[in-house]
Amino acid sequence: MAKAKQTSVYFCQSCGYESAKWMGQCPGCHEWNTFVEEPVVKADPGSASFRISSAAKGGASGKALSEITSLNDVSLSEGKRDSSGIAELDRVLGGGVMKGSLTLIGGDPGIGKSTLLLQVCRNMSATGLKVLYVSGEESKAQIRMRADRIGKFEGEMKLLCETDLDIVSDAVRSDKPDICVIDSIQTMYSTEVSSAPGSVSQVRESTQVLMQLAKVLNISIFIVGHVTKEGMVAGPRVLEHMVDTVLYFEGDRHASYRILRGVKNRFGSTNEIGVFEMVDNGLVCVENPSEMLLIGRPENCPGACVACVIEGTRPILAEVQALVTPAAYNAARRSNGVDYNRAAMLLAVLEKRGGLSVSGCDAYINVIGGLTLDEPAADLATVLSIASSFLDRPLGLDLAAVGEVGLSGEIRSVSMLNQRLAEISRLGFRRCVIPAHGRNEIKRPPELELIPVRNVGEAIAAVLKRE
Ligand SMILES: Nc1ncnc2c1ncn2[C@@H]1O[C@H](COP(=O)(O)OP(=O)(O)OP(=O)(O)O)[C@@H](O)[C@H]1O
Ligand SMILES: [Mg+2]
Ligand SMILES: [Zn+2]
Repeated sequence: MAKAKQTSVYFCQSCGYESAKWMGQCPGCHEWNTFVEEPVVKADPGSASFRISSAAKGGASGKALSEITSLNDVSLSEGKRDSSGIAELDRVLGGGVMKGSLTLIGGDPGIGKSTLLLQVCRNMSATGLKVLYVSGEESKAQIRMRADRIGKFEGEMKLLCETDLDIVSDAVRSDKPDICVIDSIQTMYSTEVSSAPGSVSQVRESTQVLMQLAKVLNISIFIVGHVTKEGMVAGPRVLEHMVDTVLYFEGDRHASYRILRGVKNRFGSTNEIGVFEMVDNGLVCVENPSEMLLIGRPENCPGACVACVIEGTRPILAEVQALVTPAAYNAARRSNGVDYNRAAMLLAVLEKRGGLSVSGCDAYINVIGGLTLDEPAADLATVLSIASSFLDRPLGLDLAAVGEVGLSGEIRSVSMLNQRLAEISRLGFRRCVIPAHGRNEIKRPPELELIPVRNVGEAIAAVLKRE
């Protein structure tokens, strides 16, 4: 390598923003105190990464084995998918594990990333595929213990406990598995990079090498990335642009359900979610998430309304709760599961168009189950739960609401209303507040009473009026 200039660079460990000097707040992701100094050897163009790519191809000479092909000659079997044996994961991936793809699974510590991938290994090895599980975090005995917890392994799964990336990539090249799991990317280190394992440069370098392996050897690789709130470890976000698919495991670690959400997918849509429950023997798919999310609703309790959002192709019902109390000091606003700005807007609409003086109140909004309702169709349920809490009158357990709320308080129609109503009716709801506009195209499920409303005031009057 010709005279490389040894410099140190500061990287945001949360989003990977690069800066020549230390900064308190990251301009990229607005997090505080995330910059860490990393020694970086700025290589000449083509040196380090070139060596890696040629090594991955198996040619020490650096001769590229890639050839130019006409698009029509590319066989479709190259884009083949294998089922992971886990229906909810296949759904989020867009129909199965794409051959030669690199998938990043991120999530908080202890959420179940290793468990999920071990189950994938078990299922896929049972169908005769060659599976290699590389762990840089746990000993073979620990992995064996988890494997025993999730059940019998019928196929053969190979294990490697290693953190040196060169050894890992040599092992992958000689073993040529169909599926390879790297748990976790933050523990891998390359001797090419002088910074510590877990730093932005290290995780990027490691991901780059794994990407080459996946593409050249046509191996489906899963990498685990820990989401860390602070500290010296780079988060999975710094890798998002490098990999094919990014999935995040969400949910409360203390509750048993988990949501797997796709945030990037080169081979499918990203709006599907997978819902799992953590039980003794691992993660099981939850086919009817609405039922799970609605368990244990308190009766006759003001401040709760059920919304229906579409996640991917599935309607999902979730309860929005609100607690509105007169403010003692400064009015506080907290929202969990509903966008903060959206919640503030809905409060303002209620004040101005709904005739409820909520502006001087503390308002807390929460969506049960750790779900995030980012669809405007949940507006009406949010508004009604706030109004119900403010007026201290319950809405009743048999009521759901669907509709977008506009700035002038109007209730706007939403897409896929018939699917939503079918799900609402299926789960036993008897009344549903809907936008009055466009109700003629509605197929009303029998036993479901529809309450069409034109604006926020009408909605409140229809379901919260005093007898
Ligand atoms: N016997 C059990 N019954 C039910 N749940 C269990 C049991 N043993 C472990 N768990 C759950 O599994 C979780 C750990 O899963 P796992 O190790 O796959 O998580 P992870 O995301 O890989 O964590 P890490 O970040 O530590 O690698 C625990 O938090 C716990 O919720
Ligand atoms: Mg783990
Ligand atoms: Zn940042």
